[in-house]
Parts: sequence; structure tokens; C-alpha cells
Amino acid sequence: MSVTPAILWRNARVVPCTSIATAATVQADAIVTDGARIEWVGREAMLPAALRERCRSVHDLGDRLVTPGLIDCHTHLVFAGDRAAEFAERQRGVSYEEIARRGGGILSTVHATRAAGTEILLDAARPRLDALLREGVTAIEIKSGYGLTLEAEARMLEVARELGRRHGVFVRTTYLAAHAVPPEFSGRSAEYVRVLARDWLPELARRGLVDAVDIYCDRGAFSAADAVVLFEVSRELGLPIKMHAGQFADVGGVEVATRFTALSCDHLEELGAGDATRMAAAGTVAVLLPVAYYTLGQTKPPPVALLRREGVPIAVATDCNPGTSPCASLLLAMNMACRLFALTPEEALAGVTHHAAQALGLALGRGSLAPGAVADFVIWDLAAPHELSYWTGINRCHAVVRGGAMQ
Ligand code: NIG
Ligand code: FE
Repeated sequence: MSVTPAILWRNARVVPCTSIATAATVQADAIVTDGARIEWVGREAMLPAALRERCRSVHDLGDRLVTPGLIDCHTHLVFAGDRAAEFAERQRGVSYEEIARRGGGILSTVHATRAAGTEILLDAARPRLDALLREGVTAIEIKSGYGLTLEAEARMLEVARELGRRHGVFVRTTYLAAHAVPPEFSGRSAEYVRVLARDWLPELARRGLVDAVDIYCDRGAFSAADAVVLFEVSRELGLPIKMHAGQFADVGGVEVATRFTALSCDHLEELGAGDATRMAAAGTVAVLLPVAYYTLGQTKPPPVALLRREGVPIAVATDCNPGTSPCASLLLAMNMACRLFALTPEEALAGVTHHAAQALGLALGRGSLAPGAVADFVIWDLAAPHELSYWTGINRCHAVVRGGAMQ
């Protein structure tokens, strides 16, 4: 029997987020942590005497709301420069896809990112990461995709890992060399896909830099056939896959992604017939990115009612990137998911906790407050969980507990 001193966190309004239903209401008033893990969650009146005896310290949380640490499951947080001038251009009526065709868009960030050294990339990402952490984010996915050479992609992934170490946040890295065709491969996109899949991916996996593999599968980007090439290598390497799909057009990506049991398909404003059923069957999470939708002034939201009806788990993320989502607020993304995509506040909260964890393949250890989970939780100056999606422009995060320690 374990005799480690435990900590009792009492007088709390605990929202466990083990499901959408438990993201809607306060279910408990106490948590016991043992080291970096949660040992017990419940009504303090029911706390077993032996466990209470093991609690060497007690924190009174002043009747505040407690949720799991938030998880931002889709970001392009590491990049150099910005694309504010393109924002101004779009305000004058030029479209995102038109700017990309002219060699701007993703490729302009690729030029800036290639030119930046590690410290510059770290410095550029820090304020964005800090903003997310101040809002209670304790785990984050960070993609590569602005390097587009073996070494520049490696540098992005290393920077992402280093951010995790320096900021004490749990980072998952995703390889997204299939984000745009770099100038060196201009007009040779199939060859580029073979190189990034067969040469670079095994090497980056060997260096231990890749937790998942992603591809931007859309009109003007990569095809479903390209995704097959990449996913076959990913499967051989035992790496989970994800996909940017249906942001502008359905090009058959979701069908391929679900065949490879993707962890998630992200964006989904354009979803093909039968794709929601395929996602439900494969257990693929729909990651909705309302800030990108808002920034691009899109008008056709993802088919949320269909996803809900089919039982597809829905997550919400910032998509923090310099082009379509210059945003470092997961709370704002939750609000937008409610207002623009008609999510309920409890769906939005499950979308940044339990389902976000599932989108990263972490379902059991993070994103919910239950025995055995990592003791990452947020203490809010709020009374009810729906207030997290209700407010904008104000951060009611009172404190964050990471790995059982108050920050
Ligand atoms: O998720 N759609 C592709 N990738 C990003 C945009 C990246 C960029 O414009 O730099 C997205 O929206
Ligand atoms: Fe993205």
C-alpha cells in the first residue's frame, strides 16, 4: 500500500469533463492528488478516512470552479515573422487562396522561418505560448510545416519540444511537412511528397521528434492520393495520423484519413457525404477551428448537427498561426465555437479537455479529472462551467496546478 503524502484540494466546484455531460455541471467538491497524479475525486464528506490521513497538506480553493487543464490540440505556434500585411490585403478584398497562389501565404512564413535560428524561433513563440498558459492551457500540440526541408522541419520540432521543457507545459509535436510545396519542388509536388514521406519522416522519427503526422489535404494543397503515400509510411513507423481537411473543399481526404484510423480531421467546413459516419466508426475526432473560419470570413460552418448525430467527438482549438488564425486565446476559440458553430458551452469545454486529449491520443491521462489522470487542473474565479464560453476579453483563471503543484 502506498504511503506517499497526498494533497487534499477542498472547497472546490469540480467539473470532471470525463464526458460532455460531466463538462456541464459541478460534480464534486474535492480532489486528492498523489505526486503528479490524481488519486481521488468526489464529495469531501465521502473521502475515505485512510486517504484523508495520508493528506499532509490541504488547499482551500474558496468555492472556485475547477476544470482539467485545457488542451490546445491544433496549433502552428512556432513560426517567425507575421502576415499582418496579408491581413490588410484581405481587408481590401484579396482572398487567402489568391494570396497563396501568388507565393504569399504559407510560403512567406516559410521564408521567414527558414531564415530564423533556434533562439529567434523560441523568442517569437514565447509570448504566444505564455498567453495560452495564462488561460489555463497545460498541454498543447505544435506542428512543423514552415520549414519544408529536413533540417528546417527538425528545427521547428526541436523548438516545440524545447518550449515544453522551458515552460513546463506538455507538448505533442506533429510533423506537417505536407503543408505547402516548397520553391525547390515547385511543379513537382508528387516528388516532394515522396521525399517528405520516405526520406524525412523516418529520419525525424528516428530522432524522436515526431508524435503524429499531419497533411493539409485541400484544394490548392495536397491530394487524397498524397495522403495515402504519407500515411503508409506513418503506419510502418507506428505513428498516429491527423489531417487538415475540408477547409475550402472536400477532396476526399477524410475517406483516406479514416481508413488509416486518424486521430483527428481538422477544419471540416466542407465534409463529404458519409464522412461523418466514417469518422464515428474510426473514432476520429472532429477538431473545429472557429478562429480560422472567423478570420477568413467564411460563411458555411462545419456540419455540427450531423457530427453530433453521428456521435463524432468534437474538439476545439486555436489553430494559432500567422495566416488564418493570429490568435493565442483558447477561451476565445470556445466562445466562437459556441457563437459561430452553435456548440453548447459544455461541448466547447469537452472540446478543449476530454475530446482534445482524444485528438492527441492522450485520452486516458489528460483532459479529465479522474483517478489516475495527470494532476493538471485550473482554478477559475467563476461559479459555473458555461461561463468559460460566455465571457470574452477577460481571463478569469485564478491559478493553475500542473503535475500536482500549484504554479
Ligand atoms: O490550419 N490550412 C492550412 N494551415 C493553416 C494555415 C497556415 C497559414 O496560413 O500559415 C490552417 O489554417
Ligand atoms: Fe492548422
